[in-house]
Amino acid sequence: MRPVFTRRKFLAASALAVGAPAVLTARNANEKLNVAVIGVSNRGAANLAGVAHENVVALCDVDPDNAKKAREQFPKAEFFTDYRQMFDKAAKTFDAVVVSTPDHTHALPACIAMSLGKHVYCEKPMAETVAEVRHMRALAAKQKVVTQMGTQIHAENNYRRVVEIVQAGLLGEVKKVHVWNSSRPVGGKKLSTKPAAKFDLDLWMGPTTGEFFEVAVNPSSWKFAWPHFHWRWWWNWGGGTLADLGCHYIDLPYWALGLTSPTKAVATGQVTYTGDNTTPDMMRADYTFPDPKGGAEIALTWEHGVSGPDGGKRTFKGFGSGILFVGTKGQLVSDYGKYLVLPEAFAKDFKAPEKTIKPSIGHHKEWTEACKGNGGAPLCNFEYAGRLAEAVLLGNVAYRAGKTIAWDHAKGTTGDKAADVFLSREYRKGWELPK
Ligand SMILES: NC(=O)c1ccc[n+]([C@@H]2O[C@H](COP(=O)([O-])OP(=O)(O)OC[C@H]3O[C@@H](n4cnc5c(N)ncnc54)[C@H](O)[C@@H]3O)[C@@H](O)[C@H]2O)c1
Repeated sequence: MRPVFTRRKFLAASALAVGAPAVLTARNANEKLNVAVIGVSNRGAANLAGVAHENVVALCDVDPDNAKKAREQFPKAEFFTDYRQMFDKAAKTFDAVVVSTPDHTHALPACIAMSLGKHVYCEKPMAETVAEVRHMRALAAKQKVVTQMGTQIHAENNYRRVVEIVQAGLLGEVKKVHVWNSSRPVGGKKLSTKPAAKFDLDLWMGPTTGEFFEVAVNPSSWKFAWPHFHWRWWWNWGGGTLADLGCHYIDLPYWALGLTSPTKAVATGQVTYTGDNTTPDMMRADYTFPDPKGGAEIALTWEHGVSGPDGGKRTFKGFGSGILFVGTKGQLVSDYGKYLVLPEAFAKDFKAPEKTIKPSIGHHKEWTEACKGNGGAPLCNFEYAGRLAEAVLLGNVAYRAGKTIAWDHAKGTTGDKAADVFLSREYRKGWELPK
């Protein structure tokens, strides 16, 4: 695996002693939390709204235009365009950090924050690479900080009801799960010259290489000014549809079946959309998981660019994207907000079990309250979410390696040097992660 981490300490990190026992928030549980938010428009705006009931003391966005609304809403919050400066100059003013930047810019601010003992809420898929996800999970445990990944569907009621059904054994033994997503990417094209931008592209680029400067996106129905939002479909900054949506959808079988780490993954796919993009719009990844209940392994198939399992050969009305649990007694199809048991003969006598999983107080609130010492760890803490994100991203590793990969979770290797290359990325000098 390529080296990921540097011994270079960021100014703030060295000033506040990296590795010191974390949790600065030994404060009155009724007091408000002091929060810094990095990336404040698009998903960042939703996350800002999620923590707006606390003290938002610092805002950071690389594009000042994107930050206008947030700055109007929180005029007293100090504003930065470079999160490294935010940590260096203002770290003492906040206890917790929300990271809503593009995937390639999750790991560094999240790791600086955790090194300083700050609690972290970070968007899915936690980070861009498997190596980064593993480092973040380990750092969170070491620093004993409160963490939550931005898989907010986990806090809604539908997933709770499905988990209760599966865990009560009402579908019988479940050894096969299909997950599919019908969303399609927006094509982009490479340019031979560095495109003009109204903000500091170098900061946006962060750890990534100069390849960035050769990419611009075609006009599309997604009205985000380039490069915002459109980075998803290039390996240099995102992980395509699997990385974009896998953590939301695969979260459900992960929770319901108590999945941990896959032992194997294989993936195929193709780029059929117009553009120079690098991630496939059509993809299938087959994962093999040990069954925590014992017996035969569980097979989980992810497909994107299709409206149903088996390349869209099977569809379920109203479930353009979804999750299908195949049990020995019955089947269940679900999406974020609803589920249906199948087939009709099984459904007619089906009775949902009693509700045993208590409602969430809200995905962001789980985190903010836990930061203040109220309640237990948020459900999508980095221990749980790190396992999930690692598995999701391994599908892309298998796709890029072009072969079946084995996975040794304890050692963090596929055992194959050519495949291990895709577990991590190259870092531009000065943008490596702190140890
Ligand atoms: N939980 C969800 O349902 C959900 C939905 C959409 C996106 N996401 C995730 O949220 C993250 C952001 O996605 P998006 O589509 O909002 O991206 P985006 O490109 O719109 O970026 C979000 C904000 O971050 C800012 N930003 C970019 N680089 C930055 C940097 N280096 N420092 C500070 N600010 C920076 C942008 O200017 C923008 O305001 C991604 O990880 C994505 O996977 C989650």
